[in-house]
Amino acid sequence: MTEATVAVRVEDLVKSYGEGETAVQALRGVSFTIPRREFVVILGPSGSGKTTLLNQIGALEPPTSGSLQADGVELGGLDESQRTEYRLRSVGFVFQFFNLVPTLTALENVALIAELTGGDAVDRSMKVLEQVGLGDRVDHFPGQLSGGEQQRVSIARGLVKDPPLLLCDEPTGSLDSDTGVQVLDLLRATTDGGGRSVVVVTHNSTIADMADRVLELRDGHIVRDETNASPSQAKDLDW
Ligand SMILES: Nc1ncnc2c1ncn2[C@@H]1O[C@H](COP(=O)(O)OP(=O)(O)OP(=O)(O)O)[C@@H](O)[C@H]1O
Ligand SMILES: [Mg+2]
Repeated sequence: MTEATVAVRVEDLVKSYGEGETAVQALRGVSFTIPRREFVVILGPSGSGKTTLLNQIGALEPPTSGSLQADGVELGGLDESQRTEYRLRSVGFVFQFFNLVPTLTALENVALIAELTGGDAVDRSMKVLEQVGLGDRVDHFPGQLSGGEQQRVSIARGLVKDPPLLLCDEPTGSLDSDTGVQVLDLLRATTDGGGRSVVVVTHNSTIADMADRVLELRDGHIVRDETNASPSQAKDLDW
């Protein structure tokens, strides 16, 4: 794989928290490559290191050792302000509990992020809210939206910067299965066109059927790295 087609390249990545007797090794030397435009599902039991790995790709925390390149940048060598710069330019985040600002409308929640990355923030936010099917809900506050709608606002917020990487931690974890399918369909669709890779962390192993690529973690190690030549559609998942 050439550098131009690689979104993320991880080699022997170690992440420890704390020191001495209380130290926890959350990632114990993981290696893998994610091509551009891939829809990747990361599976594993609670405590296996999934969120730690996502946070590493998102440069929320520095690695302990090993190499991690994303969007052409070696993240291990960055200082705090360079990590912030990388996150602004390269990464959108989607969380289980949406993390929307309750006192701002859907449009304002998205525009808040759009403003960090250039002009026409409101226009760009409107467009992406329409893209996620919420054109008629832009003036609603989070408390006036269903869980699935709130998650679509948070996906719009992740996409408004048009980042090459969209990182999602349990994006369907607090949704019922029908709403979860809609959200997964939407996430899958966001890999088309722009060369974006989408990484979804989940406990739900059935979601792996719709992935181009499945990584499974156990106790800080990768125990499965599979490519799926014919991924299912979200609506055909059996959950
Ligand atoms: N900030 C931290 N400080 C200390 N230990 C941490 C920290 N974050 C994670 N850990 C530890 O690292 C290990 C991996 O945690 P992580 O959150 O990555 O698991 P996970 O696979 O996302 O689990 P879950 O499915 O429950 O969300 C766990 O043992 C956890 O206790
Ligand atoms: Mg987690």
